[in-house]
Amino acid sequence: MYVPLAIGADPLAIGLAAIATLTVVLFSLLKGTGWEPTADVSEEILEKRAKSVPETEFPEPGNRSIGGGGGGGAIPAGGEGGEGELEDGSTASAGPGDIPEDEVEYYEVEFAKQGETIELANNETILDQGEENGWDLPYACRQGQCVSCAGHVTDGPSEDYLEHDNQQMLEEAELEDGYTLTCVAYPRDSFTIETGEAP
Ligand code: FES
Repeated sequence: MYVPLAIGADPLAIGLAAIATLTVVLFSLLKGTGWEPTADVSEEILEKRAKSVPETEFPEPGNRSIGGGGGGGAIPAGGEGGEGELEDGSTASAGPGDIPEDEVEYYEVEFAKQGETIELANNETILDQGEENGWDLPYACRQGQCVSCAGHVTDGPSEDYLEHDNQQMLEEAELEDGYTLTCVAYPRDSFTIETGEAP
């Protein structure tokens, strides 16, 4: 708005002009600019986007980590069996029976109760080889977890003459006394055994 202002004008005119100017300014402020904030549409947009994505049945990726992978569902190196296979194809934890055929050795073992001495290979259990010889020897689990197959080496501590593959029942003193679990025992020397003898 144009407000006439002149040097030396009448004070009354100047006062009226000032009042008129203030009135215009106040009126402008009260009226406002007409601008209104944009409504928050983010929720609406998100809902539309969610509907446009097809439903999946994938589980929540709770075990992912940045960079890919994550340990949760990963198969450990070496596979699920626990025995890692080495590059040359051999296994990391060979048992006492895992002897190549061309390295197998034989020992003279006397079965006292049967009254016979036979040659036993060092890569098969005493129980298996006794059965292969036609004897009905006692057993139950065949895993070293009971004492059904127990026998007694009469020559001394049993582990001086044979090797157990994970026997879990006999104590050290019983092994020292010559007892063995024939289902998990592999010959390592010649000896005499009484089958069906438990400590
Ligand atoms: S049969 Fe059970 S320990 Fe040998």
